[in-house]
Amino acid sequence: MEKTIDQKVDSVLKLMTLDEKIGQMNQYNGDWAATGPITHDGDKQNQIKKGMVGSMLNVTGVEHTRTLQEIAMQSRLKIPLLFGQDVIHGYRTIFPVPLGEAASWDMDAIQRAARIAATEAAAVGVHWTFAPMVDIARDPRWGRVMEGAGEDPYLGSLIATARVKGFQGKGFGNTDAVMACAKHFAAYGAAIGGRDYNSVDMSLRQLYETYLPPFKAAADAGAATFMNSFNDLNGIPATGNKLLQRDILKGQWKFKGFVVSDWGSVGEMINHGFVKDNYEAAMAAANAGSDMDMESRSYIQNLARLVKEGKVKIAVVDDAVRRILKKKFEMGLFDDPYRFSDAAREKQQWDNKDHLQEARNIAKKSIVLLKNEKDLLPISKQTKTIALIGPFAKAKSDNLGFWSYDWPDDSVRIVSLWDGVKKKLDPASTMLYAKGCEITDTSRAGFAAAIAAANAADIVIMSVGEARDMSGEAKSRSNIHLPGVQEELIQAVYATGKPTIVMFSAGRPLIFNWTADHVPAILYTWWLGTTAGDAMADVLFGDYNPSGKLPMSFPITEGQIPIYYNHYNTGRPASGDSDRNYRSSYTDLSIYPKYPFGYGLSYTAFTYSDIKLSANTFKAGQKITATITVTNTGKYDGTETVQLYIRDMVGSVVRPVKELKGFQQVFLKKGESKTISFSISEADLKFYNNELKYMAEPGDFKLFIGTSSANTKETDFKLIQ
Ligand code: BGC
Repeated sequence: MEKTIDQKVDSVLKLMTLDEKIGQMNQYNGDWAATGPITHDGDKQNQIKKGMVGSMLNVTGVEHTRTLQEIAMQSRLKIPLLFGQDVIHGYRTIFPVPLGEAASWDMDAIQRAARIAATEAAAVGVHWTFAPMVDIARDPRWGRVMEGAGEDPYLGSLIATARVKGFQGKGFGNTDAVMACAKHFAAYGAAIGGRDYNSVDMSLRQLYETYLPPFKAAADAGAATFMNSFNDLNGIPATGNKLLQRDILKGQWKFKGFVVSDWGSVGEMINHGFVKDNYEAAMAAANAGSDMDMESRSYIQNLARLVKEGKVKIAVVDDAVRRILKKKFEMGLFDDPYRFSDAAREKQQWDNKDHLQEARNIAKKSIVLLKNEKDLLPISKQTKTIALIGPFAKAKSDNLGFWSYDWPDDSVRIVSLWDGVKKKLDPASTMLYAKGCEITDTSRAGFAAAIAAANAADIVIMSVGEARDMSGEAKSRSNIHLPGVQEELIQAVYATGKPTIVMFSAGRPLIFNWTADHVPAILYTWWLGTTAGDAMADVLFGDYNPSGKLPMSFPITEGQIPIYYNHYNTGRPASGDSDRNYRSSYTDLSIYPKYPFGYGLSYTAFTYSDIKLSANTFKAGQKITATITVTNTGKYDGTETVQLYIRDMVGSVVRPVKELKGFQQVFLKKGESKTISFSISEADLKFYNNELKYMAEPGDFKLFIGTSSANTKETDFKLIQ
């Protein structure tokens, strides 16, 4: 009879020496694309041959992975290596940055994007992606917001599920399925002051309510692995945190995969002041449930001694190794260690037109229309003269954003805004260009040419934003205003009186109040990836009616941060900006964001009827249905994301003023109406009480349905006993 995978794992484990076991728990970086210090010991290949390495990161390409796997096959037990890589938003075909994709609110598209990223990565020998990053983030100063899904745990959970399913495809054993890795466990997004790698101190209730849901969703979706995080949480570094890794993840959630440390995070516990040296670091991390050590070398250098001295039980090592070997078996690597290293597949996936098509599809859905006065957009393809102005108008690689790869043919393959507009505009029309300024420079020398171009044009499209390395890991910024003199350039161009559209390329919410208050049309395009210019042109010319909605609140200024829609009411809530005296507000600043969570316009207009409830009261086990009719009253067909929020009016712990509990995307032809219904059950009303029990409390609730978190219809209902 064929052995089960668990039996196979056990039979391999029985053959292993302690050193070989510890080898499986050891991961080294390859020799490029490092995000932390690399140890240049030149000895990695030798160590692989001795069975002292379980996994490598940053090694890609059929040839390269095959070479290293061949060395692993010379080891005594011939245990194959796992190749891991940060495939965060695409590999060869770059998709919008995850925060941008989140703005699409389109789970199918997000899942397809991850599927394609996995297909391309798997074709170059990668078994494992360090994604999805599912950290909830309420602080746009934190550069890593670009990798996540924004501020909301409900939306974040759905996206986590979609991305895990996309990466893992039809399941392990298929050569286009890569292992997902939910990261960074946990609460990394709450780092103090938005400073990367910083500390987090929060109640466990807050952790469960806001930060853990997307991780739980990823685990439930079958994520093969988790990565722990750099931050300390309530005084314990996440890497040495038993509560997170053993009790919650492997205990309460019954997670069967393995946990990899973040880069060097085992050793960094020394800097945290949590352990004295690498010996203690290895002990703390292994005992807390970190199964694999990424680049600290703490395990390979100390675990054997720790086991011999009884500080780490052999059962802890065996459990970690079992988890790692199990994934290697599930991936089919024991049957054929080279199954992901197939030159024909590598070639075939290199230039896959369907992938580019799908990238363009989600890119256009990620664009958010922030403003469109007097229906300036969409513009006509017959416009006589268009001026494209700004440092992003002809940008290529800046469209890719952080965590993306550069390829030799990028200058041909990446579609700039200029290229995209050119393809659509009537050949008889004229396109003018002026860069105007650099992204971060203070020189205004290019302004005159920009003004001249604007004066000669019928319509001006300005493309401004952040360079691709201004948001991302270690890219925290205290000033998130549009960098350099770009907003001055906008002012100078706007002063020409020409109809002006401004497009923002960025990995985070930026601040641009003057533009927001003066310029008639604004599109937020994030970093859209390889097909950026095509997607932008689709929206500019109305071939796609924008449907994106913000997954994160946009502050008026940094002083408002953290600002998020699902806050508590406080004992002295301000009823508005004219109600500041002895209120929870600022004396000198609005309490409202510039653009709220869930906000995004369309070229058409949607009107909402009042909400109808099937009943005003219900009990556990029953359901009520909320219906609302949405009508497209504008001039274009379009898609609206209808959002459902709930507020629990009285709780044994205070409840947010609004919580997203559902949404539906509805396509409406102009003039068309559709009735949307949401079913609400007790499960939608549950929260963690002060004893961390997940339950619903009977009482009064408010229900809101609308076009954003700040623009809703509302009604009331009761949950009765
Ligand atoms: C990052 C991780 C990443 C790892 C490997 C770390 O610095 O925090 O998100 O997966 O490097 O590149």
